[in-house]
Parts: sequence; C-alpha cells; structure tokens
Amino acid sequence: MDTQRIAISTAAASDPYLDLVRRHGSPLLVLDCRVLAEQCRELQTALPEVDLYYAIKSLPHAAAIRTLQQAGVGCDLASSGEIELVKRAGIAPRHTIHTHPIKRDTEIRAALRFGCTTFVVDNADEILKFVPYKHRVGLLLRVAFRNDDAVVDLSKKFGCDLNEVSYLMGLAEKMDLHIKGFSFHVGSQCTDGHRHAAAIEVCNGLIRANAHRGTAPQSVLDIGGGFPVSYTRSETSIHAFCDPIRTALAQLPPHVQVIAEPGRFLSAPAMLAVTTVMGRAVRGGRHWYYLDEGVYGAFSGQIYDHMQYPLEVFSDRSERYPSVLAGPTCDSIDLIAEDVRLPELQLGDLVVAHMMGAYTAASASNFNSLPKTPIVAVNAPPTPHHASPIPSKKVAITNTASHRSRC
Ligand SMILES: Cc1ncc(COP(=O)(O)O)c(C=O)c1O
Repeated sequence: MDTQRIAISTAAASDPYLDLVRRHGSPLLVLDCRVLAEQCRELQTALPEVDLYYAIKSLPHAAAIRTLQQAGVGCDLASSGEIELVKRAGIAPRHTIHTHPIKRDTEIRAALRFGCTTFVVDNADEILKFVPYKHRVGLLLRVAFRNDDAVVDLSKKFGCDLNEVSYLMGLAEKMDLHIKGFSFHVGSQCTDGHRHAAAIEVCNGLIRANAHRGTAPQSVLDIGGGFPVSYTRSETSIHAFCDPIRTALAQLPPHVQVIAEPGRFLSAPAMLAVTTVMGRAVRGGRHWYYLDEGVYGAFSGQIYDHMQYPLEVFSDRSERYPSVLAGPTCDSIDLIAEDVRLPELQLGDLVVAHMMGAYTAASASNFNSLPKTPIVAVNAPPTPHHASPIPSKKVAITNTASHRSRC
C-alpha cells in the first residue's frame, strides 16, 4: 500500500489552497521563488567555489530564471527555445553555457547569434561541427561515467569513453579548436556524492595529462547536475552530500574554474500542484477519485522522471478506504496513486502534490486537448524592462578564442 507519500491534513489546512484556487482556478501550479532562492543559497554554501548554471530544462519558467539570476546563477541551455527564454528574461549571454552534446548546425548558430560561446561535445562529429566557428567557441569535452544508482543515468546516452579522450583531444587540436575543459553528469537524483568525487578525480587526471595540448591548458571543469532532493519528506543534507565533492575539488590545479549545472535540486522543492476532485466512482471495491491534473500534465514526471510526489489530502474523517487517485484523461495509464488508503473525499475537495518543480510542467502535454496547467509565481522578483546583468561577477566563462567568423 502506497501510504508513505500521502499526508492527511485537517480540512481547515486546505484553506490557503482554496483561496489560491478561488483566485486562479484549478488545476494550478504554484512556484515559490523564495524556496528557489533558499535552495540556491544551500547549494552555494555546500559548494562555495563552484559557479552555478541553472539547468532550465528542469523548470523553464521566467520567474525561476530571474530569481536565480539575482542569486548570481547563470543558465545551462540545451535548445533554441531555451535561448529565447533566457533572452526574454534578460540574461547576459556570457552567463550561459550550451550543454547539449548533440546539436544541429542551426542550433549552434542560434546560440552564437545570442552570444553563448561555451559548448559541450562528446564525439568526433560534434567536434567537426564547430570547425566553421573555431575562433568564437570554447569546447568542453563530456566524459561518460555510468551510474546505475542514479534515478536517471544520463551517461547511458551521452559522454565519450575515457579511452576516447586522447583521440578526441588530438582531433580538436588538429582542427585548431580549443577544448577548454571537461564535463560530466553522473546522473540525475544521484544518491551518493562519491560519484561526483570519483568523476572529479578522473577529470583531474585528464586535465593534468592533457595540459600540453592545444593553445592553452584546460581551465574549466563542469561537474554537471545530479544533486538530489528528498521526495519522501525525510531530511537530507546537501552539505553532507557535497563533503566528498569539496574534498575532490580541493585537489584540482588552482587555475581550474569549476562550474555545475544543477536543475532538480534548485527547482523541485519550489513548486506544488493544487488539484481538485472532479469525479468519483467505486470500482472493484475501491474509491476512485478523478483529479483535474494527471500524468499527461504536470504529473508526467511520474512517467518520464520516475518520481512519486508527496501528496496531501484534507479531511476531518477518521475512516480510511482503499482508494485510487486518477488523472483527467481517457487513458488508463493516467493514474497518480493506485493503492492508497484515504478518507472519503467529496467533489470539489483539493489534493495537493508537493515537490513538483523539476521535470513536471516541463514535460506536460496537451493530450485530450486539455490545456497545460498554468504556473503562478509567488515571491517573484519584478520583471525587468531591459536586459540586466547578473549582479555577481562570478558566473562568466571566458574563451581564449577571438570573435572572427560570422554565423
Ligand atoms: C546536460 C544536463 N545538465 C544538467 C542537467 C540537470 O540535472 P539535474 O536536474 O539532475 O541537476 C541535466 C538533466 O537532464 C542535463 O541533461
């Protein structure tokens, strides 16, 4: 029985959510920018020497980007759509990096037109795509570190093998392209900071072994994302998670600038979903409650991101019944919680899902022609009237390459 993730609060505890629904409708996603800023402070404290670039794919929302901008965080981009988003948010291009290892030429040109000049590559074809722009870009070579323990093992799909590094560095050198450092991603929702630490140690060796290559030594190490959050209401300490990471970073040559691309850790706790019971049935001895949001919407993370979100229902009744929480579409895969014990709920009752910030709205669809759930940002910084620079001088990577070619 999946009871661990359902909290049953008093009926009165739903009042603030009812108020939000009265003002904005249901279903509703509520992004609290203050929580985002707190998460950011925690990670910056845990990794004081690391410059952060928000992986906006986790929650591509302007208020989130602006909040993190004010905290001195840059943006990790992966598509032209994300470039448009940061442009509109007024992020300076020098505070962005493009980290998708596989890109079309049009994508590269869009990023260069914007002014982003740091790109990630992980194979020979990708390196060769940058030859026309060689004087304008600095490349990071992404190395794979497989991690079966992470919830999403990204090195299954991206990153070169360690034994390819020398060949790829040689190819770049031959093409007069500057590989300015290495990057990796040890997997999203990583369970052990020693994974990052082990990858840093290997990259430390690569930086030292390849110092003679190219026009300048490798001066950037991008330690990716993967910083975990708790979806089970248990306390976790990001500072303790980062202990081995800090130790490994301390061994790097002093000229190396360390950057990271956190997504989930920053965005996950910052958003919740307010949904409403819009239909009921008793089937097979269980109470079925049909909510106005489901796995084709913001709960899509249950499918794509393999997450289960902590749920909260509101009732003063003590009896519990085997129950199912289902989404609004016509598909039977659209189930949010299948085996739970709940008090009897009424039409119009609210069900709130917490920790809904990362990889939820980002992967929602319009299946059944249902509109995507709107996001209301609270405690958000004001919208800028023009592009404004990041207050901190920390987040900016420079290239040794000069700007000569056009795209
Ligand atoms: C290239 C890259 N960077 C950063 C991230 C963010 O990872 P996380 O949300 O685990 O911090 C991802 C996630 O898919 C990614 O693909």
